[in-house]
Amino acid sequence: PRPILLTRHGESRDNVRGRIGGDTVLSEKGEVYAKKLSNFVEKRLKNERAASIWTSTLQRTILTANQIGGFPKIQWRALDEINAGVCDGMTYEEIKKNMPDEYESRKKDKLRYRYPRGESYLDVIQRLEPVIIELERQRAPVVVVSHQAVLRALYAYFADRPLKEIPHIEMPLHTIIEIQMGVTGVQEKRYKLMD
Ligand code: F6P
Repeated sequence: PRPILLTRHGESRDNVRGRIGGDTVLSEKGEVYAKKLSNFVEKRLKNERAASIWTSTLQRTILTANQIGGFPKIQWRALDEINAGVCDGMTYEEIKKNMPDEYESRKKDKLRYRYPRGESYLDVIQRLEPVIIELERQRAPVVVVSHQAVLRALYAYFADRPLKEIPHIEMPLHTIIEIQMGVTGVQEKRYKLMD
């Protein structure tokens, strides 16, 4: 069995300010996670020469993976965070105040709600298809450094969770979810490297 390691990027400056979307760099805490993650991965995948690291095209995932040495890195646009369209850069409070109808629609049906000029969870799930096909095809371990919404969808696929749960799956920062696919099914381990 070969592992797939899923992790969100380290805390970003926008995470600290509660702003969604964007393309900021890491906070100081996020930088610490990048270091811890590289130590963890280098140890965990020590003899796995064919392993690879997959990130999104956004700075916060690239910077999180930056310090991991010894493996090729691949950027996927399909691993970018859900596109919040006109709400990109706003806080949830600002959306609630300035666009109450949008806020309510999303609350009612988070799976199907599509941000104006942006994406829905269903859109994200659909664009992940090629990533999933490639992940299934890999013989070697893969570390996926991505974002909250995208990782909910990826995780749900491997953990066989129902579609309607996807937008609500807990996906904490600074935690690695290791998925092992063996003959008896899928096994999961979690490593919380810091708060
Ligand atoms: O807040 C971090 C973030 O990755 C945002 O960029 C994104 O819009 C959000 O999480 C997705 O989570 P939710 O679907 O719960 O709003």
